[in-house]
Amino acid sequence: MWDYTDKVREHFLNPKNVGEIPDADAVGEVGSLACGDALKLYLKLDENKERIVDAKFQTFGCASAIASSSALTEIIKGKTLDEALDVSNQEIAEFLGGLPEEKMHCSVMGQEALEVAIAKYRGGPVPGHDHDHLHPEMEGEIVCKCFGITDQFLKKVISDNKLHTAEQVTHFTKAGGGCGGCIPQINELIAEVMGDQPKEERKRPEKLTNLRKMQLIQDILEKEVRPLLWADGGDLELIDIAGSTVQIAFRKACAGCVSSGHTAKFVEQKLREFVAEDIVVEEVEG
Ligand code: FES
Repeated sequence: MWDYTDKVREHFLNPKNVGEIPDADAVGEVGSLACGDALKLYLKLDENKERIVDAKFQTFGCASAIASSSALTEIIKGKTLDEALDVSNQEIAEFLGGLPEEKMHCSVMGQEALEVAIAKYRGGPVPGHDHDHLHPEMEGEIVCKCFGITDQFLKKVISDNKLHTAEQVTHFTKAGGGCGGCIPQINELIAEVMGDQPKEERKRPEKLTNLRKMQLIQDILEKEVRPLLWADGGDLELIDIAGSTVQIAFRKACAGCVSSGHTAKFVEQKLREFVAEDIVVEEVEG
């Protein structure tokens, strides 16, 4: 289970400013249900159209996504649009007394929704994701096709949060957390932005016996994957391993979830990263 602060729990159990503002001046929407998190942020401005007098949100996601959205709306109410643009994702995380690194993408999503809302209101280019191809005016080239994330967005998050590994970038943005095909490009961006070579990450072993491979698969599922699913009320069960094919069945909240295809890809990517690159994960009914 994630080690959430009391403030995260408080904002998850009793989130502030949930809902919609029908006559909102600015609306920012980021994420998609297929990615597992989505946030729609509504802003109401004063008569001079400069200061935020009300902010509400609708979100689909885990405890930290709800808590981050709640924190964001509390932070920005009363600020001018320019002051709100200075709110960083670290400020959202700090407001909550901190977030586990694996959940920092929730704070980034909040800040991104705010930037999108203000950019659209002002008629400027929209930063960030384009998973649903909603923003042809968006800045930058897509790096992560699985999550529709651009190089400009990744560079900003790497620089703002001083990230040094592709794994950290995945925790903060989700980029690299699907098929993993963009990880080399993410490493290049880290090198470009931070001016150093990315740190060595946990390596795959060179050669594996069948027995060792099965042990490693079980180990990674137990230590790296299932705890992430438990945090969001889900789970999976290992059904069988035949050669490089790993059959899993989703349980609890993950069973029948619209994002299960992405979750299966995430499991496959983890096993390819830590066990063997030819692993194929199949979701079965079990
Ligand atoms: S392209 Fe980035 S995870 Fe698939």
